[in-house]
Amino acid sequence: MPHISPKDFFRPLAVGAPTPLREIPARPSRAIHFFDPSNEKMAAKVPGMVSTVDVLLGNLEDAVKADRKVAAREGLVRIAQETDFGPTQLWTRINALDSPWVLDDLTTLVPAIGHKLDVIMVPKVQGPEDIHYVDRILAQLEAKAGLERPILVHAILETARGVANVEEICGASPRMQGLSLGPADLAADRRMKTTRVGGGHPGYLVRQDPVDGDIEGPRGIFQQDLWHYTIARMVDACATHGIFPYYGPFGDIADVVACEDQFRNAFLLGCVGTWTLHPKQIAIANRVFAPSVADIRHARRVVAAMGDGTGAVMLDGKMEDDASLKQCLVMVELAEQLAAIDPELRAAYDAIEVDA
Ligand code: GLV
Ligand code: MG
Repeated sequence: MPHISPKDFFRPLAVGAPTPLREIPARPSRAIHFFDPSNEKMAAKVPGMVSTVDVLLGNLEDAVKADRKVAAREGLVRIAQETDFGPTQLWTRINALDSPWVLDDLTTLVPAIGHKLDVIMVPKVQGPEDIHYVDRILAQLEAKAGLERPILVHAILETARGVANVEEICGASPRMQGLSLGPADLAADRRMKTTRVGGGHPGYLVRQDPVDGDIEGPRGIFQQDLWHYTIARMVDACATHGIFPYYGPFGDIADVVACEDQFRNAFLLGCVGTWTLHPKQIAIANRVFAPSVADIRHARRVVAAMGDGTGAVMLDGKMEDDASLKQCLVMVELAEQLAAIDPELRAAYDAIEVDA
């Protein structure tokens, strides 16, 4: 470990760069919706999507062909300059640090649209050194552009080395906003044997014991979540560092049911949002990554019943105490943040009647 004074951690990395944030704001980001800025049809839809989604992300990396990289970068600059994003955040995913495009991505985007960019997503992050590299360049570019607030950094966890270094990545810079799971690259890097982009696999299962020793007889099978281990590690690393974990892509656009399940697993484990690759996934993400009316009704009952927050009470035959109150407050706080930007949710939560 290099010696760093905690005081230096929050100093700007370039003279004149904005002061790093001490806390990453919890801005709603249920869906991070990917668009390809080099695709004119897709780009034309972006202004109409503002306010329908928490985050719009101009993707410059994978899924953009090599001969469209410059068009994507320039398209993003144009869209950002021409669009009023209102409460919707604007993010981008830059090219990988070992690619020939990334330096031009940064030196073009920050001066041109840095004041509109909330978060830069960095793919294939292997360790804290990758974050340090981006951190310093961003500070230099922000200083040169006269930006007043720091652009935040989000890392995709999609290599085995990245997973092994996940805590160090989260703690590498005060700019770190969060992590996303990159199941496709991660599967390839780990030499996993799934060719799907996220989601489960019918071969990854647990089988019920034979009944009466009948091995060939009917036995229930339960598919397991290939991504549970990695998401759980991400959640712990992010919570430790006060930043936010996200599920990544779910490639089977037609299978809205399995998509919803995968998103919900991530939500239940602690993720705050997910990527969406198609408009129909946005509605799923907005629904899944918000507490349900039933959750909030229960949470408010517990809050009301627990008074000063200490001791234990029985509600519907279940024990509630200081710790379960904290679980409920997680839900209530999230509901308040989401209600502040989503009038439909506000109406649904406001209509809840709590009988103590
Ligand atoms: C996302 O970038 C992935 O590789 O899954
Ligand atoms: Mg990837």
